Amino acid sequence: MIDFKLKVADKIEELQLDMNREEIISLIEIPPNAEMGDYAFPVFRFAKVLKKAPNLIAEDFVGKLSNGEYFSKILNVGPYINFYVNNCIQIKEVLEEVVNNKKFGSKSIGEGKNVVVEFSSTNIAKPFHIGHLRSTVIGNSINNILKYQDYNTVSINYLGDYGTQFGMMISAYKKWGSKEQIDKDPINELLNLYVKYNKEASENEALMDEARYWFDRLEKKDEEAVELWQWFKDISLNEFQRVYKLLGVSFDNYNGEAYHSQFMEDVIKELEDKNLLKESDGAMIIDLEKYDLPPVLIKKSNGSSTYITRDIATAIYRKKTYDFYKNNYVVASQQRLHFQQLIAVLTEMGYEWAKDCVHVSFGMVSMKDGAMKTREGKVVFLEDVLNKAIDKTKNIIEERNPNLADKEKVAKEIGVGAIIFQDLFNNRIKDYVFDWDQVLNFDGETGPYVQYANARASTILNKVNFKLMEDVNYNLLKENEEIAIVKLLDNYGNVLESAANKLEPSFVTRYAVELAKAFNRFYNSCPINSAEEDLKNARLLLTYATKVVLTTSLNLLGIAAPEKM
Ligand code: ARG
Repeated sequence: MIDFKLKVADKIEELQLDMNREEIISLIEIPPNAEMGDYAFPVFRFAKVLKKAPNLIAEDFVGKLSNGEYFSKILNVGPYINFYVNNCIQIKEVLEEVVNNKKFGSKSIGEGKNVVVEFSSTNIAKPFHIGHLRSTVIGNSINNILKYQDYNTVSINYLGDYGTQFGMMISAYKKWGSKEQIDKDPINELLNLYVKYNKEASENEALMDEARYWFDRLEKKDEEAVELWQWFKDISLNEFQRVYKLLGVSFDNYNGEAYHSQFMEDVIKELEDKNLLKESDGAMIIDLEKYDLPPVLIKKSNGSSTYITRDIATAIYRKKTYDFYKNNYVVASQQRLHFQQLIAVLTEMGYEWAKDCVHVSFGMVSMKDGAMKTREGKVVFLEDVLNKAIDKTKNIIEERNPNLADKEKVAKEIGVGAIIFQDLFNNRIKDYVFDWDQVLNFDGETGPYVQYANARASTILNKVNFKLMEDVNYNLLKENEEIAIVKLLDNYGNVLESAANKLEPSFVTRYAVELAKAFNRFYNSCPINSAEEDLKNARLLLTYATKVVLTTSLNLLGIAAPEKM
C-alpha cells in the first residue's frame, strides 16, 4: 500500500535541502484538522540559514513543487507546507488493501523476534481482585497487538505461588482449617485463614516462626507441605479459570514463582562467583548504591529465598529458554522499585540483555461505587464485577431489544467487553476510577458504543447479503464523511505500529472510538440502500472495510465483536 507520508518525503527531497531523508520523515506532521490537509512540513528551521521569515520560505518552497500523481494540492499555511492527498488514489489503495490483506494494518515489524509477555500473575490462595484486572487485560491486549505484528509471543502467568505466606497458609490450615469448608468456598476460606493468621501473628511472634518453619519444609520438598501447597494451588487455579474464561484470556504457560525456585541455588552460586553478595546481619544482600537504589535481599537470615531472587532466576531462565528480544512484565506501578532493582542486578551480573527487560507498568483502579466493597473490607472480587456487568447488560437488552437472539451470549460479550474497554481507554500509566454509569453508556466513548457501530455495519451488510465484487467504482465516494473514514483506515497501520512499539493498547481503544464515530456520521448522512447501484456498492464496500477494522480492533483489545446487539 502506498505510504503517503513517504510520498511527502519524496516531495521535500525535491527541494534539495541540507537534510537527510530520515530527518525529513521525522519532521512530517499530521495537521490538527482535515481542512489543513493530510500532512504538514514545518519550515521554521530554515529561517536562520535563508535569512527569511518562515511563512515566506514556505511560500517559496510551495512554488517549487508540483502536485504530481499523489497530491491534489500543496499549499502553504503560515510556516508550513501542507499536503492534500489525492483522494481517488487513497481510496483505491486503502479499500483494495483491506480486501486483499488478511491482516490489514499489520506491518509485520515483529517477524523473527521472540517476545515474552508476562501478565496477570495472580497470587494463589488470594482473591482475584479488581487490581489484577488491569494486568490481565492490558497484558492480554499487548500480547494480541504484538502477535498481530508477527512477533512470536510467549504469554506467561507468573503465579504468585511461593514464599513465606505459604508457610502461613499451611500452618493456619493445620491449626484451624477444615477441608469441607474450603471445598465449599475455597478462596474466601483460604483468605479468612490467612487474615486470621496474620492478625494472631501480630500478637504472637511464635506463629511467625511456625510459618517460617513450614515454608522451610516446603522449600525442602517435605511431603505434607508440598501436598497442602499443591492443593491450595489447584483449587485457586480452578477458581481463577472461571474468570479467565469470562475474560477470554489464556496463557502459553503458568510457570510461576514456585516453578523457577528450582534454579535459585544456581543463581545464588553465580552471584557468589561474581562477587556480588554481601553479608548483612546473617542475610545475603546485593549493594546497588551505584545505581542509587536500596540494596536487595537475596537470602534471608533464616535461609529462606526471596521474591527478587526468584525473579532473577526467572529472567535468566527466560533468556535461555526463549532467547527473547524483549521480556515484558505487565505489573502495577507500585512495583517500580522492584523492577529497577531486578534490572540493576542483572546488569551487575554482566547480562547485556538486562536492558531488554521491560516493566510495563500501569496505574491503579479504584471503585466509585462503594457498594461494590465486599464483606472482607477492601477487596473487590473481579468475578463479581464481571457478573454485575453482564446482569446490567441483560437489563439494557431487555429494554432496547428484547427479541435479540442469543441474549445470554451477547450480554456476556457486551458486559465483559465494556469493562475491558474502560480499562484500556486511558494511557495505562494513569489511575482511574471505575464508574458503572460510564462503563455501560452506549452513547459514550465506550466498548458498547464501538460494538454497536460494528454490529450496525454487520446488519447493513447482512441485509443485502454483501459479497466482495470486482470493479467497484471507488471514485463515487466523494462526501466528507466518506473520505474521513478512508483517512482513518489509511492511518490504521501507523496506530497499530505505535501501539506495539509503546505497548499501549489505549491507542487502539481511542482509534476504535474515532472510527465508530466516523462511521455513525457516514451512516446518518449518506444513504446506502436508496443510493443508485454503483454508489450503493461503493458505500457497501466502505461499510465492509470499516467493519473489518472495527472487529480487528476490538479483538486486539481482547473484546468480542457481536454481529447483532
Ligand atoms: N504476583 C505478584 C503480585 O500480585 C505480581 C508478580 C509480578 N511479576 C514478577 N515477575 N515479579 O503482586
